[in-house]
Amino acid sequence: MRISSTSLYWLVILGYLVIFTGCAAAAPSREFISEKPTKDYEDLVVGFAQIGAESEWRSANTASIKEAADQLGVELKFSDAQQKQENQIKAVRSFIAQQVDVIGISPVVETGWRDVFQEAKDAAIPIILVDRQADVPDNFYVTYIGSDFEEEGRRAGRIMVNLLNGQGNIVELVGTINSAPANGRYSGFRQITGDYPDMKIIASRSGDFTRAKGKEVMDELLKRYGADIDAIYAHNDDMAIGAIKAIEEYGLKPGQDIKIVSVDAARLAFEAMIAGKLNATVECNPLLGPRFFELALKVANGEQVPKWIKSEETVFFPDDAAATLPTRKY
Ligand code: AHR
Repeated sequence: MRISSTSLYWLVILGYLVIFTGCAAAAPSREFISEKPTKDYEDLVVGFAQIGAESEWRSANTASIKEAADQLGVELKFSDAQQKQENQIKAVRSFIAQQVDVIGISPVVETGWRDVFQEAKDAAIPIILVDRQADVPDNFYVTYIGSDFEEEGRRAGRIMVNLLNGQGNIVELVGTINSAPANGRYSGFRQITGDYPDMKIIASRSGDFTRAKGKEVMDELLKRYGADIDAIYAHNDDMAIGAIKAIEEYGLKPGQDIKIVSVDAARLAFEAMIAGKLNATVECNPLLGPRFFELALKVANGEQVPKWIKSEETVFFPDDAAATLPTRKY
């Protein structure tokens, strides 16, 4: 049989097509080849924009984050904003410039984060809110790990109702103005005490979550209201400790003449309860380090995580304080 040169040409082309398409079919398709290998803790670079060191709680939170990074072998870039939002914003920008895998932040206040979170989003760096929420749309952060501050306020409110039998003058030492814990604890407390018309919040002033400010504010409130004050609701233990000092200097007995309920359940609160100077503390857990890095790794590997990892917390009273103190880690 004779084959024309044109037919031979087409036969060769066909042969090539069969060989090459066959090979292509045998090769793994590109979508099954992972472009980014899965990261381990040792490959993870995390930036953390901390608020500062305003309280015992915050120091325990910082220690938990640093210790967990150390134990897991995560490279941690840690920034202390000294209570200033502009410093936290600068820290986030610097983490973006350094192309970290994940950014963790405890926003000092709730508002004013949109622009810098947008910059992180544009750089495809996920943000995890740790301890405090920010007032931004849900798609500006991957997850929030921390407490239910409103529930903490409700718990404090229920305890106060019992301590005062539904009747008395309360002064409130508020945390940092416009911070998530101050907002939540303020409204949660009122959700309960609002049902008791004879429980009056006669003053509500910020002590910025510090012991020094708690004392300063309480000095002023004692000058103004003196023995008319039946109880103090302090948004954290540090401010309660400052208030206890002010009450003693004024010549009254904290825990007896003036009942006190605070939030955090730090060791200093247990010591005050054992001494009979504090009537209750509502727990707020700062030991978030291990959970934070677990989430950061998942997020860096593209895994889905829940939008809120809620801390499990309780309340403590003087009766059990001595037995519980040795078990407290902060
Ligand atoms: O955001 C948590 C709060 O911040 C703690 O209650 C307080 O002690 C801290 O400064």
